Amino acid sequence: MLNRFLLLPLVVLMFGCGTPNEAKMDLIPLPQSFLPEAGSCALTGTWDMVVPDVWADRMDFWVAWLEADEDAAEGAAVHLQVILDGELAEEAYVLDVAPKEVEIKASTPAGVQHALTTLRWMAMTAEGGKLPCGRIEDAPRFEHRGLLLDCCRHFMEPDFIKRTIDLLALHKMNVLHWHLTEDQGWRVEIDAYPELTAKGAWRTEADGSVHGGFYTKDQIRDIVAYATERNVRVIPEIELPGHSRAALAAYPWLGCTGDALEVPHDWGVFKDIYCAGQDTTLAFLKTVLDEVMQLFPSEYIHIGGDEAPKVRWEQCPKCQRRITEEGLHDEHELQSWFIGQIGRYLEENGRKMIGWDEILEGGLPAGATVQSWRGMDGGRDAVAMGHDAIMSPTSHCYFDYPVESTDLEEVYGFESVPDGLEGAGRILGGECNMWSERAPQHLVESKVYPRLVAMAEVLWSPAAQRDWSDFKTRMDAHYSRLDAWGVTYGWETVPLGLDWERGTDAATLQVSLVPAMSGVDGTASFVPHGASEPTAVFGVGEVERIRGEGTLVVELTRKGVSMGNPLVFPLAGHVGAFEPVELDHAINAYYPGRGEQGLADGRLGSQDFRDGSWQAAQGQSMGVTISLDGTHHVDSLSMQAYRYQDAWIFLPDSVRFQWSVDGEHWEGDWAEQPFAGGRPTFEPNDLQDVQRVSVAVGAEAKWVRFEARNPGPCPDWHDAASSSSWLFLDELVVHTAP
Ligand code: ACM
Ligand code: ZN
Repeated sequence: MLNRFLLLPLVVLMFGCGTPNEAKMDLIPLPQSFLPEAGSCALTGTWDMVVPDVWADRMDFWVAWLEADEDAAEGAAVHLQVILDGELAEEAYVLDVAPKEVEIKASTPAGVQHALTTLRWMAMTAEGGKLPCGRIEDAPRFEHRGLLLDCCRHFMEPDFIKRTIDLLALHKMNVLHWHLTEDQGWRVEIDAYPELTAKGAWRTEADGSVHGGFYTKDQIRDIVAYATERNVRVIPEIELPGHSRAALAAYPWLGCTGDALEVPHDWGVFKDIYCAGQDTTLAFLKTVLDEVMQLFPSEYIHIGGDEAPKVRWEQCPKCQRRITEEGLHDEHELQSWFIGQIGRYLEENGRKMIGWDEILEGGLPAGATVQSWRGMDGGRDAVAMGHDAIMSPTSHCYFDYPVESTDLEEVYGFESVPDGLEGAGRILGGECNMWSERAPQHLVESKVYPRLVAMAEVLWSPAAQRDWSDFKTRMDAHYSRLDAWGVTYGWETVPLGLDWERGTDAATLQVSLVPAMSGVDGTASFVPHGASEPTAVFGVGEVERIRGEGTLVVELTRKGVSMGNPLVFPLAGHVGAFEPVELDHAINAYYPGRGEQGLADGRLGSQDFRDGSWQAAQGQSMGVTISLDGTHHVDSLSMQAYRYQDAWIFLPDSVRFQWSVDGEHWEGDWAEQPFAGGRPTFEPNDLQDVQRVSVAVGAEAKWVRFEARNPGPCPDWHDAASSSSWLFLDELVVHTAP
């Protein structure tokens, strides 16, 4: 036994005994159990830590980890004994606090670190003086608790990656899924193929500026070592066969056409992907993976597999020959074959493959773990086939989406084991995905936090203990720790309440400013369209009625400090809002747009199609009927649609507004290509905008209705040719005279 005495400064703490929350320890994730005992442990600001010989080389790091938040202080040391207990599970720990000493038991360094982290958190938020005596027994519910960081759409500095690793460890998360190759940038140095970083790591933006960067092998080794010391596993993702434009820009022979391509600066899904018919492409990927495996000790290598359009393969003689020679039926089976080759190569090298749920299409390669992102079905199917799965559905785990679409409470409600699933043990855990198309490094934390804190508890703590209001209390206290660590967190939820009250002017919308997190203050101003001054200014907790269209500008502060740029919500007070609706389409689970009422709730769409107010359907037409609260003289009707063809979002082919007094006889006809520009919108363009269509009515109506025809599959020229296109709509606005 090594006996090294170290003086650890800790602030003076003071709190009483009880359950974790009664004792105000405000721990997240909530430990499995806390057994209070009489008495308290008076902290003196210093510790002496004793660790078993086998962990002697960990001592300095553990001391630094524990004392990182504290200033040096004076006083007699409290004894901190670390004991190796081989009976405990992998990451489990027992933390015993007695009046004169603290004892930690664990079977692994990860377990010790989790115990020290618990102690560190307790020290940070206690109101001085004493740790409550008692025993915490703790272990994670899932073995895989991760964050995906997309360092391709926007490059992130090595120091930022390290800081992210620290914050993961501080929340007892244990996986950094490092997305390193993409259409818009190749970020990992590969000796055999220098052009990957010489050319593939750089793109010219629309404004002529250059964005890019890559990690040298030394930087990667340093980051992996840093993570390993903190018990965070780094899983590299090398995307194939799609999301590979940067590699094709560096080495055009990797693609089916051999055409010279640029590293793209726009977002979306691109049809040029690795050619599956060439042995040279496979040899290239194996060489890349050789070098990647040398850099990353991870048992798992992520190979992507998502969003790979098959148009090039359909037209490529080499790919078609491969299909024939291998006795495959179609391009989906070719993808499965291609990924199977890679999977086998990884297996020969002692590694396991993870792929996005598209790898199920055409047959799941042996031994593959599926990461389910298009809902939960991919993970469910993989488990049914005897494979492992990691859950990160867009509904709860996409932290690049605004809080309007996934707020803190929704994340806290995430359950990664589907109801009634047999073989639930094959669900390894979950991940939060931070894609960075719209988030350069300086915005990443505002999207990841506080949502990652909720995910940390969801993936660690027993499901039976989950309690939103209890979590909220602990979360409120935890902000002081996030502040101490300098985390630039964002909102918990949308600070906007929309409602409607029968008996008031039917054309008004009741708007309130709700605190988006505790301690928030601020004002909202409603500026009607065409006006320069607000007609209503109100504060948190107040309710205003607004009529007609305009923008609500919300400025909030927390502890007197501005919470960033004003939030802007396009709204419409009109007689259709909150009246009963009937939909013709099935709401898409990824873009529910505020649910059944979403097309008649006073909330218009913004320039961000994922702002939560856009309602979408894929491969279908859409329609909504509103039953007004009586007959109104309707001047006009309007609707907005989103256009972003790169993301498969098209304007409707044709639309029809209708109105009726009796619900049987309807006025109003179809209009072909009603949007500004008409047909040209179905030709290639990289526009991303909101388009409005309206119709003059000038009649009485009790029912109003809108239909939009889906334009059919993505056209031949499109990168996702033949895939189903999306329609996005926001609100059927019923315009009446004041
Ligand atoms: C993904 O979001 N395309 C995995
Ligand atoms: Zn090909």
